[in-house]
Amino acid sequence: MKIGIDKIGFYVPRYFLDMTSLAKERNQDVNKYKVGIGQHKMAVISPSEDIVTMALEAANSILDDTDKAAIDTILFATETAIDYSKAAGNYVHRMLGLQHNIRILELKQACYAATGSLQLAIDYVRMQPDKKVLVLSSDVAWYGFNTPGESTQGAGAIAMLVSANPRLAEVHKGQFTTEELPDFYRPSYQEVPTVDGHLSIRCYNDMLKRVDPNTSYLYTCFHMPFANMAVKANKVFSNPISQDKIDVVKAFTQEVGNIYNGSLFLSLISVLSLAKESLENETIGMFSYGSGAIGEFFSLTIQEGYEHVFDKTKALSHLDSRDEINFKTYVEYMTFYKDKEVTHQYIASDFKAHKDNQFVLEQMVQGHRIYKKVSD
Ligand code: CAA
Repeated sequence: MKIGIDKIGFYVPRYFLDMTSLAKERNQDVNKYKVGIGQHKMAVISPSEDIVTMALEAANSILDDTDKAAIDTILFATETAIDYSKAAGNYVHRMLGLQHNIRILELKQACYAATGSLQLAIDYVRMQPDKKVLVLSSDVAWYGFNTPGESTQGAGAIAMLVSANPRLAEVHKGQFTTEELPDFYRPSYQEVPTVDGHLSIRCYNDMLKRVDPNTSYLYTCFHMPFANMAVKANKVFSNPISQDKIDVVKAFTQEVGNIYNGSLFLSLISVLSLAKESLENETIGMFSYGSGAIGEFFSLTIQEGYEHVFDKTKALSHLDSRDEINFKTYVEYMTFYKDKEVTHQYIASDFKAHKDNQFVLEQMVQGHRIYKKVSD
């Protein structure tokens, strides 16, 4: 029986900072960011959003009432959790109006947890093929002002509905490898991660070599902490894909930045949206990396008729319709984000939500979050 991704959706914040603005303020040659690192824009989370609202927007873009009734598990992957105890999926459950006969878990393993969740969901559905699992990933990649990682920041969420007889992609078993490494970590007392970016690139490439399947694919998607990581990874991969295909693989990341857990799947969405050829029956390679560290290589086979469940026009217009903000607004929004996550106090009247957002954070009262669906 085929098990895999029935539908996939994504959300990135409605605001972005162009790398030209950042380069000017940081006294850097813009080509370091745009050519060297490969980042053109950075998605910037607004004050009325958090990892829950982003996950809600992504899930809401794919789920209908029949899907909602069949979901009995939510796996929420994040490395930017808002609570040490309560799973963010609880808020998602309430706001999507899902049934009560449901399990919710939050999973963490740096940027790998979404892949781990997907594979666990596949095995679960294999045992109970009438069930559907909602796999969510949502993160704010925030490294702090004036840090080497600042130019690679981003934010966004992915939602995947896992089922038997999937209409989008059958997911195959992966090869994985783990080793304790100090390339990236954020102890609970730190607002931003400690990251050794150059060490992390070496760890990433080493993990890729260990699980490399030595198989040739038309497209291989890579986890991208920054867009040009795909170029570096493709060079150590046993069967590198062509330059025009790498351009497709990294196109969305270039426009968004790192979204941590969702980054690999944003790359898949980039391929689904921009591939010139039909992807029906095409098997795509997927390399997932999570600092700390774990690497997994798996593949998935795109199903016949996948374009009925993936609307590429909608995906492209989501990216194209975002609003550019200036450097001052970027500083204001990220300061707001940082302070909000430290003080745990917030009221929506402080800020007007973007007109296209369906879900907003209304209030935080002593750490408890209250959300609103705008159409309510
Ligand atoms: N024109 C064109 N290119 C230029 C240039 C210019 N004027 N100036 C520099 N460059 C090139 C450099 O030659 C270099 O290219 P190569 O990599 O091909 O050698 C590139 O631009 C970057 O330059 P530097 O290496 O000098 O830049 P840096 O020291 O500032 O570091 C970085 C870059 C390592 C990507 C840094 O931004 C960083 O650490 N970012 C964070 C990355 C990260 O999060 N890593 C964790 C990985 S995994 C993950 O996503 C997280 C997870 O699992 C938790």
